[in-house]
Amino acid sequence: MENKILNVGVISCSGMATGHMKGVINNPRAKLVAVCDIDFEKAKKVAAERGVEKVYADYRELLAQPEIDAVIIVTPDQLHREMAVAALEAGKHVLCEKPLALTREDCKAIADAVKKSDKKFMVGQICRFTPGFVAAKNFIDAGEIGELMFVESEYAHDYENILKPGVWRYDPLRNGVVGGGCHAVDLLRWIVGDDPIEIKAYSTKKIFKDLPYDDTHIAIMQFPNNVIGKVFVSISCKRNYTMRSVFYGTKGTIICDNTSGEISVFRDTFPGLSEGGKIFEKNALNCTVPVQYKVNIANHNAVAEFEEFCRIVLDDLPVKTTVYEGAKTIAACHAIVEAAETGKTVVPDYNF
Ligand SMILES: NC(=O)c1ccc[n+]([C@@H]2O[C@H](COP(=O)([O-])OP(=O)(O)OC[C@H]3O[C@@H](n4cnc5c(N)ncnc54)[C@H](O)[C@@H]3O)[C@@H](O)[C@H]2O)c1
Repeated sequence: MENKILNVGVISCSGMATGHMKGVINNPRAKLVAVCDIDFEKAKKVAAERGVEKVYADYRELLAQPEIDAVIIVTPDQLHREMAVAALEAGKHVLCEKPLALTREDCKAIADAVKKSDKKFMVGQICRFTPGFVAAKNFIDAGEIGELMFVESEYAHDYENILKPGVWRYDPLRNGVVGGGCHAVDLLRWIVGDDPIEIKAYSTKKIFKDLPYDDTHIAIMQFPNNVIGKVFVSISCKRNYTMRSVFYGTKGTIICDNTSGEISVFRDTFPGLSEGGKIFEKNALNCTVPVQYKVNIANHNAVAEFEEFCRIVLDDLPVKTTVYEGAKTIAACHAIVEAAETGKTVVPDYNF
């Protein structure tokens, strides 16, 4: 569909939603035609600032508009199932924020609706568009660090200002692992290109003592092909937001982060200057030292995420971050929580 313009409606007018709106507005193949928020005053303001004519407080009214081809769902996680299923049934293509949903049952219901629909459904696992992680994935897939052996990531994000009793993030189903840690879990699944088959975990709660779930988790996991992994999740830790990640291969190591403008690549051979990296000498102890590559800092790269979604819909391409990708990430997150609660090794159930 070379000349077709994708007409998009965004459900929610939060800060994250306006990031998605930017992705639509910046894309020459798409048009932001409608926005919706249950907070109608907010929706009207956001619409006016962006010259959007159609504004709704009820998402079902937005879905009833025949000229809308696709919707982006950026509402609280608890609403993803209802809205995703309704959007597919209304014949819309869907880009749905992570986490796909909070429960296994909800993930399955969305997957069933996708199966019945002929529309595209993509989960917004945004780390797959973070420039430092994309660069790392490209190095790994090109064989630059050999075969992966150990991968680690973290979601260290102090929720002190956003986690108050009564807000939707307080819901035990929306614990730190499923709600935020899903970024780190999904990143490892994507980097390894496979699912953890066994998970052990521990958790604690020393800061948000009244929270109905633990605020800090550590999980270790076994992937296929003897790759091992580790995920640290804390929504209370006293530090800057980071997803520092290290990928160890048989011939090198990559250190990267969603909040850093550089990735470091350690290799047992040194590349030529043509790669554009900054070359360091081996140090006096003959240890491997890294080549550092500049990357853009785009922690919430909704623009690149929407570019891919728009191409998938307009050019009828296969979805990469499918509903099953989103569901398997949640299954692994549930296994972490269960492993920490029971002290047992948990085998995630990926059967959706
Ligand atoms: N990809 C990321 O890195 C990232 C970052 C932040 C949030 N998120 C995800 O985005 C989603 C929204 O998070 P947020 O931080 O923007 O939340 P938020 O609480 O800041 O905003 C949610 C918005 O949804 C609106 N809303 C609530 N119920 C609604 C309804 N029934 N119909 C229409 N609008 C409704 C609210 O009025 C509010 O404006 C969540 O799924 C969250 O997990 C993802």
